[in-house]
Amino acid sequence: MQTIQSYIQKHKQRFLDELVDLLKIPSISADSAYKNDVIKTADVIKESLEKAGCDTVEICETPGYPIVYGEKIIDSNLPTVLVYGHYDVQPPDPLDLWTSPPFEPVIKATDIHPEGAIFARGSCDDKGQMYMHVKALEYMTKTHQLPCNVKFMIEGEEEVGSKSLGWFVERNQDKLANDVILISDTGMIANDIPSITTGLRGLSYVEVEVTGPNRDLHSGLYGGAVANPINVLTKMIASLHDENNHITIPGFYDTVETLSAEERAEMAKAPFSLENYKKALDIDAVYGEEGYSTNERNSIRPTLDVNGIWGGYTGEGAKTVIASKAYAKISMRLVPNQDWETITQLFKTHFESIAPKGVKVKVAPHHGGQGYVTPTNSLGYKAASKAYEQTFGKTPIPQRSGGSIPIVALFEKELKSKTILMGFGLNSDAIHSPNEHFGVWNYLKGIETIPWFYKYFTELSQ
Ligand code: BES
Ligand code: MN
Ligand code: MN
Repeated sequence: MQTIQSYIQKHKQRFLDELVDLLKIPSISADSAYKNDVIKTADVIKESLEKAGCDTVEICETPGYPIVYGEKIIDSNLPTVLVYGHYDVQPPDPLDLWTSPPFEPVIKATDIHPEGAIFARGSCDDKGQMYMHVKALEYMTKTHQLPCNVKFMIEGEEEVGSKSLGWFVERNQDKLANDVILISDTGMIANDIPSITTGLRGLSYVEVEVTGPNRDLHSGLYGGAVANPINVLTKMIASLHDENNHITIPGFYDTVETLSAEERAEMAKAPFSLENYKKALDIDAVYGEEGYSTNERNSIRPTLDVNGIWGGYTGEGAKTVIASKAYAKISMRLVPNQDWETITQLFKTHFESIAPKGVKVKVAPHHGGQGYVTPTNSLGYKAASKAYEQTFGKTPIPQRSGGSIPIVALFEKELKSKTILMGFGLNSDAIHSPNEHFGVWNYLKGIETIPWFYKYFTELSQ
């Protein structure tokens, strides 16, 4: 029987070429100018699933971008794995910071990926990681080693809030029935320190607008006599954290789960070098909420960050002006038990209440979602753990991540199954940033590890 290792050895170049072709299509869901490319990507995924051995594959139309659904059902008495991933990508800008164009993939070696990494938007998040599952399926079907049923659901709106996926899941519960959901859209600690993501943060994303006078004013004639919306907005934003970097919105922490000392001690065992962390980001100190470590601050604690702020004159030279309006986009990362809609409302009430006289404030919610934690004693977790032991020769470390995949909480609610997050990216892979890349080793290691998950999950389910 052909092993996955020898299969990869034989087909490695094709696996890379196929991914490179997929990465060439700019499937940017946030920008409607790329609509045709997003739709074309769905078609390419459909074909790839057919070739990999799915019995039926459909392009499911939704109010937004299509969802590619494929399945191979071998025996209704066997367990069913539902694979989720996304084929849309983040906008690539700022373009001038890329060392090679974002949709012309190239393989280059880096310090962390001496065997090469594929540089392209979406290489790690999530086309590369999603495609590992397609290739793992190909191996299992072509060598007659698929041990259970499999369903694929690949969406095109993850980077813009998965609206249509929520719509689709609510309407297709039977079709999507499964025993475990498997996702590769997160990371691991390092190539020699495998980890399984056991938590995701929730998200509330809002946009605020502060309006002062009804028109832009001469900053000499009016300066000092009317509220300047930019001055006001920055002061309001600054007041959202206190001197200990706690968030000041009343009620914000009410439902935050507190981890026991044991749980925190367990977390602190994960290998982490503050020196390397600072060095990688070229910062001389870390920053954050008093009383928590860096790893706690970016995983088990909620945060509030301005993602963008604008207003007034930003062109060349100087223009003496008091702008009529100022704006900001703000994200709050939430932890399990914090309801994103409640938090959005708390933010809105508070932000409006701190506006001084002389300005009007508008708060517009964008999207959001709930956080998620998955237990380490489920069949799925155990199967994943054994799979990593098999291919990395080490037991993976459970790790809560700071990122968000809001749809995961919805899967649990609607489909009543646990999600296992087998991510093979690294934090240094620069997802959402210029020069996003995905290690060739990581890509192939993912393809190697996934079939073992199927095998162990099926065995443990019997
Ligand atoms: N794949 C990421 C989320 C992620 C990355 C989680 C690494 C854990 C580790 C996903 O594509 C993403 O970017 N999610 C967004 C939220 C979404 C609603 C736009 C995020 O976390 O900002
Ligand atoms: Mn992603
Ligand atoms: Mn993303």
